Amino acid sequence: MVIFKKASDIKAYLLTIKAKGQSVGFVPTMGALHEGHVSLLEESLKKGDFTVVSIFVNPTQFNDKNDFDTYPSSIGDDTLMLEKAGCDAVFIPSVEEIYPETSQNSPVYDFGYMDTILEGSHRPGHFKGVGQVVARLLEIISPDKLYIGQKDYQQCMVIKNLAKQVPGLRDIDIIICPTVREPDGLAMSSRNRKLTIAQRAAAPLLYQCLVSITAKAGLQDFSIVQKECLDILKDKGFVPEYVTLADADNLTLLDNYDINRPMIALIAAKIGNVRLIDNMLLDSSIPV
Ligand code: PAJ
Repeated sequence: MVIFKKASDIKAYLLTIKAKGQSVGFVPTMGALHEGHVSLLEESLKKGDFTVVSIFVNPTQFNDKNDFDTYPSSIGDDTLMLEKAGCDAVFIPSVEEIYPETSQNSPVYDFGYMDTILEGSHRPGHFKGVGQVVARLLEIISPDKLYIGQKDYQQCMVIKNLAKQVPGLRDIDIIICPTVREPDGLAMSSRNRKLTIAQRAAAPLLYQCLVSITAKAGLQDFSIVQKECLDILKDKGFVPEYVTLADADNLTLLDNYDINRPMIALIAAKIGNVRLIDNMLLDSSIPV
């Protein structure tokens, strides 16, 4: 596994890979890797010839300074994990490498509606930062395929929208991989490392709420299920930000279950200083 720190070095190296006719898969991450990240890498290794993983904690996508300051970092363990999983190259750039002075006037992308709902409204500026870093990383790596996780469902939509906005990114095949969970249902996340033992014990409640929203589809009004979830989350010490049902294709928020649409349930809640998000697609075969 080759480790790169400079954009110009990895660009030059990837030109030689592409010249051999090999396809390049790319998995962008912020490190503190877990099996969810590795599942994206494995998918890329299966589907393509050469896989690059990037590790970069992007300062421009953090709307909360404390979240950025305390974001977990474990570069040593991360590179070992990637090497063991068969990763071909890792890109670990500095902030200057990603945001050189010359690109300080880099375009700011507008995600319209996506910026106004759910993660967009609760984390002002977050998706602008995601758009900025993903556009820059894709410009450097120029992959054939990009692997991202359903865990961050709205981010997937934003990245797909970004690829449509930027002419050079239109041909990239964007592959969304399923959420990897702990045995008790908690979605794997780098931020789980910040949970205390008691918070970790409570954390699967997000998953349980999603299961309950799914199971009660068509049996109860969503507003009743939503209130039950909000009440139990608060009761167990969470500060819920949203418990929502939406159209899975465009994230139009729904007041109630709607058999005529593909649906997704989405949750965000804080426990202590740790903000957790999760989502679940509703099975279209549910008798609503
Ligand atoms: P990060 O949170 O490190 O996640 C990197 C990728 O792993 C994202 O595509 C995310 O959706 C995916 N992922 C996270 N947890 C997962 C899980 N439990 N199962 C499957 N996939 C999972 O998302 C980011 O970083 C950043 O915003 C980034 C896209 C790298 C831009 O900075």
